[in-house]
Amino acid sequence: MLLSWNYRQTEAICTVPIMGVGPRMNKFYIETFGCQMNVHDSEKVIGTLVGKGYSQVETPDEADLVLYNTCSIRDRAEQKVFNRLNDFKKRSKDKVIGVLGCVAQQEGEKIFDRAPYVSLVAGSASYNQFPQMLVQLEAGNRRVTGLSLDTEDTFEVPYTRRDNPHKAFLTIIEGCNKSCAYCVVPMTRGPERSRASAGVLEEARQLVLNGYSEITLLGQNVNSYMDPSDAGLDFAKLLRRMGEVEGLKRVRFTTSHPRDFVKEIVDAVDENPVLCNHIHLPVQSGSTTVLDRMQRLYTRDEYMRRIEWMKNAKRNIAITSDIIVGFPGETDEEFAQTLHLLDEVQYDAIFAFKYSQRPNTPALQYKDHMSEEEKGSRLGVVQEHQRQIQIPRNASYIGNVEEVIVDGYNKATQQWLGKNTQNKTISFSHPVIPGSGGDGSTIEGSYLKVRVTRSGPSSLGGEAVV
Ligand code: 5AD
Ligand code: SF4
Repeated sequence: MLLSWNYRQTEAICTVPIMGVGPRMNKFYIETFGCQMNVHDSEKVIGTLVGKGYSQVETPDEADLVLYNTCSIRDRAEQKVFNRLNDFKKRSKDKVIGVLGCVAQQEGEKIFDRAPYVSLVAGSASYNQFPQMLVQLEAGNRRVTGLSLDTEDTFEVPYTRRDNPHKAFLTIIEGCNKSCAYCVVPMTRGPERSRASAGVLEEARQLVLNGYSEITLLGQNVNSYMDPSDAGLDFAKLLRRMGEVEGLKRVRFTTSHPRDFVKEIVDAVDENPVLCNHIHLPVQSGSTTVLDRMQRLYTRDEYMRRIEWMKNAKRNIAITSDIIVGFPGETDEEFAQTLHLLDEVQYDAIFAFKYSQRPNTPALQYKDHMSEEEKGSRLGVVQEHQRQIQIPRNASYIGNVEEVIVDGYNKATQQWLGKNTQNKTISFSHPVIPGSGGDGSTIEGSYLKVRVTRSGPSSLGGEAVV
């Protein structure tokens, strides 16, 4: 029997008596959906399992334990989860199957009724109890839950398994205290909990020692980070301290809420080139009345003031955003204001979504929900509008020499792929061809200068300066 770690036991995991000794589980498979936060949660879950002697396998068929880390932010996520679970079940009767993430939190124990072959249902606010849940699964308990949202804990593990050897995610704050009318996150990830700055900075130093050169600070709303320790750093101060970590080349952060986005954040980015000059500041809508119905806590003018801070910076800060179209009751005029906002801001990129009804959210009760067809047509209009903005924006990079971190190689085009500080993807030619010398030669993870010679709506192209 594996030993449990010395984590504080709370009510987060269920106390159903252990039903006898279960099958020994050695191999696990994990599948992850959703945002970077989910991806990083899975990295920590993997670290926990590997630390306990499990090995990760590539397919569910090889595994004794199958974990499914789910997302419920949009679309009919729940149905898709049950379909996939059923698929896992069909592959083998005696696998232990666990559902993690937002759908687990949202559907809770109902999952056991609908999919009785599931043995674990746990949301992210309970992951710090993951080792204890594992002990219960190993003991044969087939109804293990971690569903309490009433927590002050963060999920910090001694070992995190990261797939990318150069770029790392680092959580600084979990949960969300906002209550945007369309969003399930406050109900699935629990209240905000910030990590102590000393732990964050130490993890950053360790990452550098282990060869990482880029760190993305993660949180549902990083701007409301507030150091719980005596150091008392706010987000802008933490950013500055991150920018001083020796050997670190790039720091990014996501995601920001405009209400908590203060000028000090822009100043920190403006003054320290290690802090990447890209800021993702989701606006959701260009109409103050829609923003009000969305409970976003800012007006269009207040949002535009934040954009001005970035535009007035000395560095050329790339700005990206999220947009929701077809929010209940969105009139033609309100929608037109979103298009005008795109013209005014001149974003480098946007992620646009059709409004999607989410269980237990206030917007469900709103009047005048729009048809899928109408939402789809608005989505097309927004995307095309933004495409026309991006074409000249990207073309303005032609002739620049940009520093990129090399992410990989595209065999089909025989081009390397990299990202500049503004998070723009640049494909480029370079004399090194992977594997050509039979020595596995690669430039992946290195920082190179690339001269930009071509551009498209969503990417740039060029040649390495060698
Ligand atoms: N419908 C559509 N988009 C949503 N988002 C969050 N909830 C919904 C929803 N119910 C989008 C927001 C958010 C991004 C992560 O997902 O734009 O910023
Ligand atoms: Fe959802 Fe709003 Fe919190 Fe973002 S800030 S996670 S959109 S509730």
